[in-house]
Amino acid sequence: MRIDYEDAAKTITALCEGESDAVALMATVVCELHHRDDRFDWTGFYRVVAPEMLKIGPYQGGHGCLVIPFSRGVCGAAARRGEVQVVADVETFADHIACSSSTRSEIVLPVWNGAGQLLGVLDIDSDRPNAFTQQDAECLASILANTFVDAS
Ligand code: SME
Repeated sequence: MRIDYEDAAKTITALCEGESDAVALMATVVCELHHRDDRFDWTGFYRVVAPEMLKIGPYQGGHGCLVIPFSRGVCGAAARRGEVQVVADVETFADHIACSSSTRSEIVLPVWNGAGQLLGVLDIDSDRPNAFTQQDAECLASILANTFVDAS
């Protein structure tokens, strides 16, 4: 099964209408995205909890590591660079943090609110190599921008 991003965006918009609590929004987004695509093996957020520090937020899938400094991993790279990270082969990403031995590829997107505050990152892992595309990056970024615009 492959996600229909237009349908997912409509559902997430409806579910999140009027909500500004970042964790509530994260829980809703993860729940809605994870089950829509067979590529998504682990779907979750890491929240900015202190300068240069991420801590796990709502997720679906196996246990994720609890704390990630901006200096480490694909998540840390997305947070410190402020750019989407599309990793075709995690074995080639220096300092990739393997929460599961089955992860082969990964996409991580920074999450900002409308005031430009970095709230965290969205991390999606796949057990398939080279699972994620530029279209995934663009569609997921659009969903995040619309969902978290008023979040805090
Ligand atoms: N792979 C991520 C760590 C999070 S676990 O995959 C859920 C990283 O390298 O930052």
